[in-house]
Amino acid sequence: MSDDRPIGVFDSGVGGLTVARAICDLLPNEALVYLGDNARAPYGPRPLDEIRRFALEMAEALVARGVKLLVVACNAVEVSAIGDITARHGIPVVGVVDPGARAAIRATRNGVIGVIGTQATIASGAYQRAVGSAAELHAAACPAFVEHVERGDTTSQELRRAARAYLAPLRRAGVDTLILGCTHYPLLAGLLQLELGPDVVLVSSAEETAKDVYAALLRDGLCRDGSEPPHHVFLTTGDPDRFRALAEVFLGGHELARIEVVEAVSASPVGGVA
Ligand code: DGL
Repeated sequence: MSDDRPIGVFDSGVGGLTVARAICDLLPNEALVYLGDNARAPYGPRPLDEIRRFALEMAEALVARGVKLLVVACNAVEVSAIGDITARHGIPVVGVVDPGARAAIRATRNGVIGVIGTQATIASGAYQRAVGSAAELHAAACPAFVEHVERGDTTSQELRRAARAYLAPLRRAGVDTLILGCTHYPLLAGLLQLELGPDVVLVSSAEETAKDVYAALLRDGLCRDGSEPPHHVFLTTGDPDRFRALAEVFLGGHELARIEVVEAVSASPVGGVA
C-alpha cells in the first residue's frame, strides 16, 4: 500500500537542499516537505542547547504537517539534538553523520581522512566517534562557509582565501578523502576540489543519507508508489522570495527547481550568536 505522507527534511538554511536533491534522485516518487530555518542561520556558532531548542521547534513544525519520516539534514542539529528528536516523535529519524563517515571509510586509500564542519559539529567529536579506529581523522572547523553559502556566494576570492587557510592543516596531514561535514559544503565542492587538487575524494553525506532514507522506508513499509507525481513543499522561517531564488540556483536544472510552494513559517525571535 502506498504511504502518501511526505518526508520531512530540515536544516538551518539552504544546505539541506543538497540532501533533499539526493533523496529526490534516489526516490523520485516521494514527496518532500523541506524546512530551512534561514532566519536563524547559521546554527554552527551557537551553543548546543540553543541549537537543540531551534531543532526541536523545526522538527515539531514538520511533524505537525504529518510527515512520515524526518531527515535531519544538518550536522549541527544532529550533534545537538537527534536523540531528543527521535525520542519525542514516534517516526523514523535519519541523520547525516554516520552516512558521511561510512562513505569516507570506503573511499580512503591511505587511511587518512579529513572532516570539515561548523564549530558545533567539529567540537562535538561526532565524526571521531563515527570513524572510530577505521582511519586516522583530522578535523577543521570552517566558521565562515555557511554565511557565504546563505548569501549565495560559492566562488568569491574571499571564500577561496578562507578555504585555503582552513584546508592547509588537512593538506599537511596528507588526507586523501575529505568529509563535507556540513550540508552547505557540497555547494562549495568546486572551490574545495580546486584547493585540494583532483586526487582528494570529496565525500558528501547526501547520497548515503538518501540510501538510509530508502532503507528506513522499506523497513517500515512507508514507501509511496508512483501513481501520482509527488508535490514538494518548501518552507522557510526567512524571506520566501530570497529562499526561492537561492533554492532555484542551488537545485540547478533539477526537477525540484519547480518549487511549487514556499511559505514562511514563524520562528521565535532570533537569539544572538555566541
Ligand atoms: N547545514 C548545517 C550543517 O550541516 C549548517 C549549520 C549552520 O547553520 O551553521 O551543519
